[in-house]
Amino acid sequence: MELCSTTLSFSSSTSHLNFQFFDFLVGKLSSTSTSQSVNSMGTSDIVLVAGGTGGVRNEEKARKMLGSDVDLVIGDITKDSTLSPEYFKGVKKVVNAVSVIVGPKEGDTPDRAKYSQGIKFFEPEIKGDSPEKVEYIGMRNLIKALKNNLGLRKGKLLFGFEGDSYRQLSWGALDDVVMGGVSESTFQIDPNGSENGGPTGVFKGIVSTANNGGFTSIRTKNFSEPEDLSAYDGLEFRLKGDGRRYKVIIRTSLDWDALGYTAGFDTEKGKWQTIQLPFSSLRPILRARTVLDAPPFDPSNLMFSKFEYDGKLNPTFVEGPFELPVSSIKAYIKDPVTPRFVHVGSAGVTRPERPGLDLSKQPPAVRLNKELDYILTFKLKGEDLIRESGIPYAIVRPCALTEEPAGADLIFDQGDNITGKISREEIARMCVAALESPYACDKTFEVKSVVPFSEPFTVDPENPPPEKDYDIYFKDLKEGITGKEALQENPIPV
Ligand SMILES: NC(=O)c1ccc[n+]([C@@H]2O[C@H](COP(=O)([O-])OP(=O)(O)OC[C@H]3O[C@@H](n4cnc5c(N)ncnc54)[C@H](OP(=O)(O)O)[C@@H]3O)[C@@H](O)[C@H]2O)c1
Repeated sequence: MELCSTTLSFSSSTSHLNFQFFDFLVGKLSSTSTSQSVNSMGTSDIVLVAGGTGGVRNEEKARKMLGSDVDLVIGDITKDSTLSPEYFKGVKKVVNAVSVIVGPKEGDTPDRAKYSQGIKFFEPEIKGDSPEKVEYIGMRNLIKALKNNLGLRKGKLLFGFEGDSYRQLSWGALDDVVMGGVSESTFQIDPNGSENGGPTGVFKGIVSTANNGGFTSIRTKNFSEPEDLSAYDGLEFRLKGDGRRYKVIIRTSLDWDALGYTAGFDTEKGKWQTIQLPFSSLRPILRARTVLDAPPFDPSNLMFSKFEYDGKLNPTFVEGPFELPVSSIKAYIKDPVTPRFVHVGSAGVTRPERPGLDLSKQPPAVRLNKELDYILTFKLKGEDLIRESGIPYAIVRPCALTEEPAGADLIFDQGDNITGKISREEIARMCVAALESPYACDKTFEVKSVVPFSEPFTVDPENPPPEKDYDIYFKDLKEGITGKEALQENPIPV
């Protein structure tokens, strides 16, 4: 993980409790980044922390609280006009702790002391925007603003057919006739030529060395809008090989005869194959010659792509007809995939409508879901948006948050059944760990401390507990468990 500067938060405040959360995140993320502040592509990875400072949005206060090492952005996720694309430049990962604001009906101190105590019950009400606006519409806006930056686990389709998705590109031949040769090629769609009998693109033609020629290629027209592939690690082709070596050229400039970035790949005769070409393996070339001092490939500005068959250097070159079915081209995220959207949700989100639940044993938000404008219902709908977005995610659902230090032993669970308490600092550490852990990817889980409500948890500063390896817990979690399983026959009315 690299963090040159943290773009953060749509929030700020003097609240000590949330400060702990944020302070830890910043400290932790900054320290893991210093040895490696620029990645191989020459771009920096910025982590956006949304929310997490708890209070009233106020830049001056936030700066005082967080110091000068972070970038601060003030935005309101309920208003997409405030989520300017400028704010998200370079953001590669997000920790989202934005939440509808709840407070005591009777009012609170300026630093929200009553709310922060976490355990003693007060009669709560929603302050400001409704749960629907913050948890659902706000989440939709945030995901929309960030989707391109964070990327999709299954990759981004650039051309072709994958499942029900289809994306057409306009291809044209570029053969050695431009230099007096007689080779020729086309790129056409065969409606039944793919491995499962569906449509595929087919690059085919006849290559000849007559008149000093010897290459054929096809090239897409400029994309109408440049593709931002900065969330991805390379290009992946699904194709049926013919035993020859081909070459891909990617361009980032609108000019016809400009610098390109290339990589060759070998194919196996008669076999459908997935070919992955990492961006880091691309070589800058101008008219088939390496350009030594060229800038590294910038996947944030992909304009063109092109296949080329290079006769002179290609050991598999044979004159005559060739055919290369290509059913899809997409940008991929390399394995192991780690969460790019870590969301702090809440235990209890699936419980308000769960049949047979003893409400008297449930936390206030479950009992008062309706009075609190369906707070948990909309938190669940917000979670669903993340799960459905295709962005690699982790959803951490804490039980009641406390000001106690991290360090207690933990209980992780799935299916939304546990109640208890957990330290905010512990959740912050867990979120940072989840950003780096493939075991946390696409998992939804609840967590609490083993210490009961009635017992305070303290740490001896002289003898602090060792840092946890959260992977030990993440490893046991399963994908696909949310607690909604118990609701299937009783869908939530909204
Ligand atoms: N408190 C608990 O006991 C508890 C229990 C379980 C789960 N959780 C979860 O833990 C997370 C943090 O909860 P918390 O109690 O610490 O909440 P909180 O102190 O009320 O903080 C909420 C944060 O969301 C931000 N926010 C609210 N509306 C926003 C908007 N429209 N645009 C941008 N930011 C907005 C606030 O920013 P401003 O300060 O700038 O307004 C604040 O930083 C939440 O996801 C919550 O569901 C809390």
